[in-house]
Amino acid sequence: MPQTILITGGAGFIGRAVARALVARGDRVRVLDRLIEQVHGDRVRPEGLPDAVELRIGDIRDGRAVAEAVAGVDAVIHLAAEVGVGQSMYDVDRYVAVNDHGTAVLFQALIERPVRRVVVASSMSVYGEGLYRGADGRVREQVVRQPRSRPDAPWDPLDEEGRPLVPVPTPEWKRPALASVYALTKYAQERLTLMLAPAYGMEGVGLRLWNAYGPGQALSNPYTGVLAIFASRLHNGVPPVIFEDGHQRRDFVQVDDVAQAFLLALDRPKAAGQVYNIGSGEDRSVREVAALLARAMGRPDLTPEIAGKARAGDIRHCIPDLTKARDELGYRPARDFTDGLTELAAWVAAQEEARDRVEEARRELDRRGLVA
Ligand code: UD1
Repeated sequence: MPQTILITGGAGFIGRAVARALVARGDRVRVLDRLIEQVHGDRVRPEGLPDAVELRIGDIRDGRAVAEAVAGVDAVIHLAAEVGVGQSMYDVDRYVAVNDHGTAVLFQALIERPVRRVVVASSMSVYGEGLYRGADGRVREQVVRQPRSRPDAPWDPLDEEGRPLVPVPTPEWKRPALASVYALTKYAQERLTLMLAPAYGMEGVGLRLWNAYGPGQALSNPYTGVLAIFASRLHNGVPPVIFEDGHQRRDFVQVDDVAQAFLLALDRPKAAGQVYNIGSGEDRSVREVAALLARAMGRPDLTPEIAGKARAGDIRHCIPDLTKARDELGYRPARDFTDGLTELAAWVAAQEEARDRVEEARRELDRRGLVA
């Protein structure tokens, strides 16, 4: 039976991919989105949002707009959020307002008009540093990055004897360690959903997403994901800037795989009340993805600049354990990374402009002492 799904923040990069997947299977989709300039420029209707989608322009903090948007829907996918880890460390009030207060406003409306299920986009950032294994084979859960005392100090977290710890896949049971305002707000969004949904006869599900990438990512937003930032730099003929030494590891997941995860999270009865890691199952270093992307974009000559400095709020390594998502959701990431980069490169090449605001953003962080 087709359902009507509200996607908050559904005009964004992930939301449009989810909307396309829902429309393709016959669901009706309504989007509530503020179309902020940092992400959308001056576009009125974003490219890649299917015509069948009902687009309502409104703020997630506007109780009336939200109450009208939830009327008559079967389920909600809650994506409306500010998403930059670095920016969250100085635009604190905006991040807390949009992400936390916004989620509160959504639930205030849902208390009046409950839906079957609410799926919220949480983030791997709630873990802080992922799980690590020490040279003694022991797994460490609460690893914290040491401040670097000397320029030649190692970037990797160390054990008690000063030996580097090695990242291992992080399962959902790892306790949160919130290292940025962004992470704190994502955790609040996730917990509000899992606490309030069942209190009002709804089901809540949280997806802890790793680094999503793909065509349609906001190229002119300097706080978007690292692959879009690198793509926009290369497109403009300037080298990417890599923070730290570039050996930090992440899991890059193609946005269509993320969209499939949202559909499964909407449908699977077992998912009620649960959180799931969503990634690709393959981890890579930032340096490695910079080189692969430069090659895919035909600019291997643009050697990245290694900043040798860390962005405040960034974690060193975190890679997902996908066992629970595989077993309970039936999640099977299908997109190959090399193909994904080729597709991203082709899409970027077809874009007329990508305003490079990365220097601006870097100056902003520098001025506040948030890169050191
Ligand atoms: C990103 C998402 C966040 C999501 C999380 C899940 C964005 C804006 N943020 O945060 O919403 O919850 O993934 O994993 O999409 N880096 C550089 N050079 C740059 C930019 C970044 O070296 O120009 C490095 C960073 O220092 C970091 C890594 O790349 O080590 C990843 O950064 P980023 O893409 O911002 O991702 P997250 O902080 O993981």
